Amino acid sequence: MNSLAGSSIAIVLTNPKLDDNPIVYVNDAFERLTGYSRGVAIGQNCRFLQGPETDPQDTKRIRTALERGEEVAIDILNYRSNGEKFTNRLLVTPVRDDHGKVNFFVGVQKALPAEATEPTGADAAMREIQHRVKNHLAMIVSLIRIQSREAVTPEALANIARRVQSLQLLYEELAAPSYNSNREEIEMGAYLTRVANTIAHIDGRTGVRVNIASESVQVPVEAATRLGLILSEVMTNAMQHAFIGRDTGLLEVRLSRLSGGGLRLMVSDDGVGLPKDMQWPSSTSLGGRIVNGLIEGLSGSLSMTRGSSGTIVTVDMPGAASH
Ligand SMILES: Nc1ncnc2c1ncn2[C@@H]1O[C@H](COP(=O)(O)OP(=O)(O)OP(=O)(O)O)[C@@H](O)[C@H]1O
Ligand SMILES: [Mg+2]
Repeated sequence: MNSLAGSSIAIVLTNPKLDDNPIVYVNDAFERLTGYSRGVAIGQNCRFLQGPETDPQDTKRIRTALERGEEVAIDILNYRSNGEKFTNRLLVTPVRDDHGKVNFFVGVQKALPAEATEPTGADAAMREIQHRVKNHLAMIVSLIRIQSREAVTPEALANIARRVQSLQLLYEELAAPSYNSNREEIEMGAYLTRVANTIAHIDGRTGVRVNIASESVQVPVEAATRLGLILSEVMTNAMQHAFIGRDTGLLEVRLSRLSGGGLRLMVSDDGVGLPKDMQWPSSTSLGGRIVNGLIEGLSGSLSMTRGSSGTIVTVDMPGAASH
């Protein structure tokens, strides 16, 4: 069995504009990794994870980097809430606003397997995942940067949580035995199915049936990441806006091959439909800006149509599927 399968990346946001740079957000994986609930973690400085055997040199490196507003990558000894020690592979990156001021630090962390108990190969897999985390952190950071122009309300933080969730699932997919790291591709059908199931679970409404069908297809990791984030936005929209005032509804997510090697992602709902004169995606909302940004980096096109009832969003990516 792959010891990393199902493991996840903990994400922490801290706000250096507040006194002592406290944690303002942690994801579920952080709670599982450290044993601390978010209720306990939020408001504290990250040093509460350190303990008697933590190397002061490591602590100093982190502190110096934060003071300078620089990125830092380090393996540091931390302690869980039950006192258990673990080696934390930590990557902290500053998120700056339009004027270059640091708005947030994003920490991405993962427990390294205890050496003696893990089969060989686990470390290589771990490095691979960390490498991915670092690469895709840029994407998370740019999402948060957009978000942080607006006031940081609990709602905004919940939205960040949702928005990083699809990346979280990607890492889990990368840790799965089926991931072919030589080809830098992942099985997109399985990944999108997990994203869709997760969103259905987060935003789920009783009475709304969610129907997911995806063909098995290998897609480069970068394109899969973008498509996963787009799916997250579009599906959340359907859940939040399409079924207002309705008891029942149907939401369908379909990933299929196009003739000629391309791919199509289709999300349709039988809800109330987009407001009459609305163009979507539009740069007037955060969701719209995010989708526009994601589409730009994808060789594909997005269209929105008003169906006989409800809304259909289609993303076509000619040439995306390699085989
Ligand atoms: N499937 C849908 N059915 C009905 N209305 C929709 C649907 N998707 C989007 N809309 C409408 O389009 C608007 C814009 O969506 P958009 O995602 O751009 O912003 P938002 O969801 O309002 O906010 P956020 O920035 O949190 O995403 C929504 O407020 C809603 O009125
Ligand atoms: Mg939205």
